[in-house]
Amino acid sequence: MKAVRFHEYGGIDVLRVEEVERPAPGPGQVLVEVRAAGIQPGEVMIREGARHDRWPARFPSGQGSDLSGVVVEAGPQVRGFSVGDEVLGFTHNRASHAEFVVVDDVNLVSRPEGLPWEVAGSLYVAGTTAYATVFAVDPGPADTVVVSGAAGGVGSLAVQLARRRGATVIGLASEPNHAWLKDRGVVPVRYGEGVAERIRQACGGNVDAFIDTFGDGYVALAVELGVRPERIDTIRDWRAAAKVGARTYGEGAAACAVVLGELARLAARGELEVPIARVYPLEGVRDAFRELERGHTHGKIVLRP
Ligand SMILES: NC(=O)c1ccc[n+]([C@@H]2O[C@H](COP(=O)([O-])OP(=O)(O)OC[C@H]3O[C@@H](n4cnc5c(N)ncnc54)[C@H](OP(=O)(O)O)[C@@H]3O)[C@@H](O)[C@H]2O)c1
Repeated sequence: MKAVRFHEYGGIDVLRVEEVERPAPGPGQVLVEVRAAGIQPGEVMIREGARHDRWPARFPSGQGSDLSGVVVEAGPQVRGFSVGDEVLGFTHNRASHAEFVVVDDVNLVSRPEGLPWEVAGSLYVAGTTAYATVFAVDPGPADTVVVSGAAGGVGSLAVQLARRRGATVIGLASEPNHAWLKDRGVVPVRYGEGVAERIRQACGGNVDAFIDTFGDGYVALAVELGVRPERIDTIRDWRAAAKVGARTYGEGAAACAVVLGELARLAARGELEVPIARVYPLEGVRDAFRELERGHTHGKIVLRP
């Protein structure tokens, strides 16, 4: 089968699509023929070796955790899934950017009718992370919550989940994303110089909660805006969080099939939009990461083997 591989840490050029042996499912596992697999900024850090201390790579390394596809083989003792089932899910083995991937049955859910493959295949990391951030700051109808990176992969879902709880949501984003945010009931605010004042103007001065998906000073901004530390969540700036006692709930806090299944149902019913920025063939993996690394993705970039 074809699969993404890199043999050393480095830039986009170390990414290759290679012919490798198709893996075989073990007990409790199935082989999924991948229809779509989202890509993440976290995969860039791993590939560059920037997180070698926490998440070292073993070479040659595969890549990818999000996936949707069709079960083509089931190992022994598999429960709840059989050959022919359409599924979405995740693997922690850096392996979904490939034509086939082995997945534990507990990491899969059935694809709800009508959920596009691209959406199903890019929901796991961004969706469970967004879910965790909103859970962390617990916004209600009386609250105003600010979200940085509001139109990105995680932010575009976090703003919608916070709106579903009835909160007033202020989304920090560049101008081209303002119309999309407005259409989803979010108050768009431009980031950059003067952002604190623009936020105060947008909400009458009272901010109750802050979800930071970007890092780079937003935890300090939240404190400056008067948000209590336990209602600040960052998925990027752990150092700033430790300094002020803010939360760092992210993917790890909500990474399970149950949350994924809930989000998939919402998306299939049209109650949660997962914007798909662009779809690339597997062979276009370098172009896909070139686009992602520009840092202004609206929603998700997806590979289709
Ligand atoms: N801890 C965890 O569990 C976890 C899980 C998933 C992701 N992450 C991390 O969270 C971050 C976001 O992930 P993602 O997938 O949402 O990324 P993404 O889809 O690439 O989105 C990046 C966003 O950053 C925004 N942005 C660029 N410059 C900005 C600035 N100066 N101020 C505010 N926003 C700015 C962009 O907005 P515009 O397009 O509007 O400019 C874009 O929406 C990444 O660093 C990722 O590694 C952490």
